[in-house]
Amino acid sequence: MVEEIECDVVVVGGGLAGLRAAIEAAKAGKGRLRVALVSKTHPMRSHSVSAEGGTAAVLYPDEGDSIESHVWDTVKGSDFLADQPVVERFAQMAPQEIIQLEHWGMPWARRSDGRIAQRLFGGQSYPRACYAEDRVGFFEMSTLYDTSLRFDEITIYDEWFMTSILRSDGRFAGIVALSLKTGELGVFRAKAGVLATGGAGRIYSFASFGHSSTPDGHAAALRTGLPLMDMEFVQFHPTGLVPSGILITEASRGEGGILRNARNERFMERYAPKAKDLAPRDIVSRAMVTEIREGRGLKTEEGEDYLLLDLTVIEPEVVKKRLTSIREICLKNAGIDPIEEPIPVRPVAHYFMGGVATDIDGATELAGLWAAGEVACNGLNGANRLGSNSTTECLVWGRITGGLAARFAMSHGAAEPPREEVVREEKRIFDKLLGPAPRVNPYDVKRELQKIMEESFHVFREQRGMEEGLRRIRKLREELELGVADKSRYYNTNLTNVLEIEAMLEVCEVIGVAALNRTESRGAHARVDYPQRDDANWLKHTLVYRAAEGLEISYRDVAITTYRPVERQY
Ligand code: FUM
Repeated sequence: MVEEIECDVVVVGGGLAGLRAAIEAAKAGKGRLRVALVSKTHPMRSHSVSAEGGTAAVLYPDEGDSIESHVWDTVKGSDFLADQPVVERFAQMAPQEIIQLEHWGMPWARRSDGRIAQRLFGGQSYPRACYAEDRVGFFEMSTLYDTSLRFDEITIYDEWFMTSILRSDGRFAGIVALSLKTGELGVFRAKAGVLATGGAGRIYSFASFGHSSTPDGHAAALRTGLPLMDMEFVQFHPTGLVPSGILITEASRGEGGILRNARNERFMERYAPKAKDLAPRDIVSRAMVTEIREGRGLKTEEGEDYLLLDLTVIEPEVVKKRLTSIREICLKNAGIDPIEEPIPVRPVAHYFMGGVATDIDGATELAGLWAAGEVACNGLNGANRLGSNSTTECLVWGRITGGLAARFAMSHGAAEPPREEVVREEKRIFDKLLGPAPRVNPYDVKRELQKIMEESFHVFREQRGMEEGLRRIRKLREELELGVADKSRYYNTNLTNVLEIEAMLEVCEVIGVAALNRTESRGAHARVDYPQRDDANWLKHTLVYRAAEGLEISYRDVAITTYRPVERQY
């Protein structure tokens, strides 16, 4: 029996973008719309909660910051692959979102004059990251979650795992989702939808993402015929704690922390003489890997490479007050007090610039479906995102897409969900996955996949390694007959893990194809065999579609309004 749940707007994902979209849809619907927020975890357990350092916005033009400067920093940081009208809209709307959160109760840190405090982040030429200690995600999520509870229009369906997106006559018709509690499938019939399922992080083993960050939304979009855009650009954040990969916020360097190598040198002076440790992430991560490769790194007893993040140069009171979580993370996970000794770090998979292709409004190619936050690629981040722009992006496009989805739902009738698609989904899950005993251990597959991604699609890439990586991913996909050992219905995490691993395999293949195809170096895509940026041939976005014969590539022009590409210097 497949349960049918009727709503007007379905938002998939309960992180920052999803909650913001649901609130905006409820507001725009003025009591006339039913908004379902479907999330595989409780919202307060989504990965957004772990965002640390800050949310970028221009608050003080009277003190020297400007929208133009935020736009320029973002475009330059993107290695000129960002769509400039998108960046302009982002920078213009960002301040409103900071104030909106403030009105909903966000406890932003304050300066002594009472104004909202801001700090520096990499590649941002002005301290414009608003913060609340280094628990920005936790406080933003608490604020949005509390706010969402005030709207009777919003029903939160947590612990529902979306397995597919339904389309009917070229229109969005709802989603199929699995109730983790009962093990039954449900169809959420909706007139409009917002996909906000977050990033694909756990395709890497050394990752700053929560374990729930898997590309379920990306894969569902791909399967329904939508393209993924710019998936070759994977961001490695310079400072993942070794060996766990837990994020050590860039705000540590914004507050004055320094990266050092085994010789105690502040090596970033050589790679980015002006910005130094606060150069954009692609540049700092490449510098760190270069230091390690050239023998100036350190090794743990287990043989893991690392460099040092020195916070002992910061006033201890500042660390205690503004980097509270970082100190706690280091004490609890590494037995290190950063006030007294440096932190072992190395670049960690942190963010995907690519995602489900959308236009400037977050609209996908499927009428009635929008995408927002990390699952989406609207052209904002190009080849490299700047730190502190991501939480802002979730807020801005959560608001835009929630409002547009609501208006669409108010002016359209419901599309009929295709019955044959729902039956296919039932067969896939209950007959195929929960049917015969599995021949392979899915967790071995996951580990192997993560190893491939770490080896072949890391900070530096080259043709042979990527070809080999893609061959291994495809072999895993071909040979794989994923199945689930645990046949029980209730809270079958084995089943949801297998659904996640299927999605990971699909999306890793897309990353492999897109990365091999782009024969240049730009932003986070650094090819040893093509070390230069090639604007003549590659100033364009990659689109990857799943067709009957396999993956197909096409391109989209970069929208340039003001800034022609120049050499990036920091
Ligand atoms: O370092 C950080 O706090 C991460 C911020 C971001 O990715 O925007």
